[in-house]
Amino acid sequence: MATPTVLTARQAPGPKGEPVLGNARSFQADILGALQQGRRGYGDVVRFDGIGPLFPVFFVAHPEGIKEILQDKHRNFPKTPFVSDRWRALVGDGLICSEGDFWKRQRRLCQPAFHRRLVNSFGENMTEVTGELLDRWEAASRSNQEVDVTLDMTRLALSVLGGALFGANWRQDSEVMAHAVEVAIGEAYKKFGKFVSLPESVPTPANLRFAKARRSLDDVIYRVINARRTDRGEHPDDLLEALMTATEDDGSGMTVEQVRNEVMTFMFGGHETVASGLTWALYLLSRHPEVYGRMEQEVDEVLGSRVPTVDDLPQLPYIDRVVRESLRLYPPVSLISRTPQEDDTVMGYDIPKGSMVLLSAFVTHRHPEFWPNPEGFDPDRWIELGEQGPHRFAWWPFSGGPRKCIGDVFGLQEMKLVLAMMAQRVRVRLVPGHAVVPKPGITLGQQNGVIATVGMRERSRTTVSTAPRTAVAAAQGCPVTGAQAAPPAAASGCPVAHD
Ligand code: HEM
Repeated sequence: MATPTVLTARQAPGPKGEPVLGNARSFQADILGALQQGRRGYGDVVRFDGIGPLFPVFFVAHPEGIKEILQDKHRNFPKTPFVSDRWRALVGDGLICSEGDFWKRQRRLCQPAFHRRLVNSFGENMTEVTGELLDRWEAASRSNQEVDVTLDMTRLALSVLGGALFGANWRQDSEVMAHAVEVAIGEAYKKFGKFVSLPESVPTPANLRFAKARRSLDDVIYRVINARRTDRGEHPDDLLEALMTATEDDGSGMTVEQVRNEVMTFMFGGHETVASGLTWALYLLSRHPEVYGRMEQEVDEVLGSRVPTVDDLPQLPYIDRVVRESLRLYPPVSLISRTPQEDDTVMGYDIPKGSMVLLSAFVTHRHPEFWPNPEGFDPDRWIELGEQGPHRFAWWPFSGGPRKCIGDVFGLQEMKLVLAMMAQRVRVRLVPGHAVVPKPGITLGQQNGVIATVGMRERSRTTVSTAPRTAVAAAQGCPVTGAQAAPPAAASGCPVAHD
């Protein structure tokens, strides 16, 4: 670690990095590693200097500092403009990238779409989509084929979200939409990684691909919205309907364009996140057969071979702990950023206006002051901690304060239902020799994905059943023989992720 720069009392300390370049290269090569090292070497507020318009960057690792930024002083710490601009190109003025009174009104109008009753009603779609995937995995297992867990979780999560957004309309247009989402998100990833990129008006091949994908999404979304507006018949109870019918006290609602922007926001903000969470959970479970065994025991006792419902979730506390612990070690949104409008302080350190402030759930979730054995995967630590963890901002996979994720209940519900069904039917084994390395982007992905083989559990084949819950003896799960993947090491990728 380099010598700290000379400081006045209130300047945050930090590594000098290389001559001229400062910390630019270490950020580019492995941003999460650089931040983690920064915290270890310099404490809870670290200043990184470097070459390029991003720097200086301030990194805040302590839960108290995160609380100051996301909650207490959130008005002075809006999202970083260049990150929001990237989102805007994709989703328009959606919740994720709007600010001020406009954001507040949109948040109020979107809130009914995430009412627990409605989110619960999506449970059946979640288990149906998971059942279809497990059928395919069963076929793959019979022919000893490998599965691409990252890709399959992404498609599963998109299908769940599409169903929740558009009900039956999704089935009709899913192929076109899924393809367009994949292309648009691929191009968006590249844009997020660059501080400066050519404006969309320049017809580069990447810009053209992006514009085409966005156009196909718009075509379908506007078509469905317009069909609903003119159809006087009964409408499905889905997210789109909730957005279209939401009104303020004065009776005003969203314009068609605003509805489109929020639909796009949910589509992009709500599927890669869940997919990342599930992929990392399966990765961890494949490396911890003893944890998987306890999950199997729990589902056998509570569900037997019955498809789980949302009402079963409170009876599955171990799966809840697995999800929490997995989101702790691998939070899908591993980095967010804010930029103060005025000079401010955080934990007593100066933060000049206009600078980039990074917060990383990945680093804070491993802060040794709050997490004993921080790198260990130990779902049982949550027995003592309860829902909040050791500090409200020591565990914040869904962020906090007014900009907290609007889809947290949706995401948690989906992760738990999917994992419960997986535990009923399969075990995932990492392919030997396939190293799994975190790759921060819009969400926390994996370089080269997660490739696995699937073993079917012998006794269970989940069926739709109305049989009452009976305790079933713990089943013998098939042993996990997967190789040990590489520990989380160097991560590379864009300097700033999902925000
Ligand atoms: C495991 C799943 C998920 C995780 C880990 C997650 C994480 C997050 C985080 C950390 C933020 C805050 C970003 C910031 O403050 O800069 C956020 C915001 C947001 N998320 Fe999620 N999310 C998940 C699922 C979802 C789902 C399923 C949806 C929608 C269907 C969704 C929609 C949104 C929206 C609209 C925002 C912006 C809210 C606002 O600024 O008012 N998320 N999410």
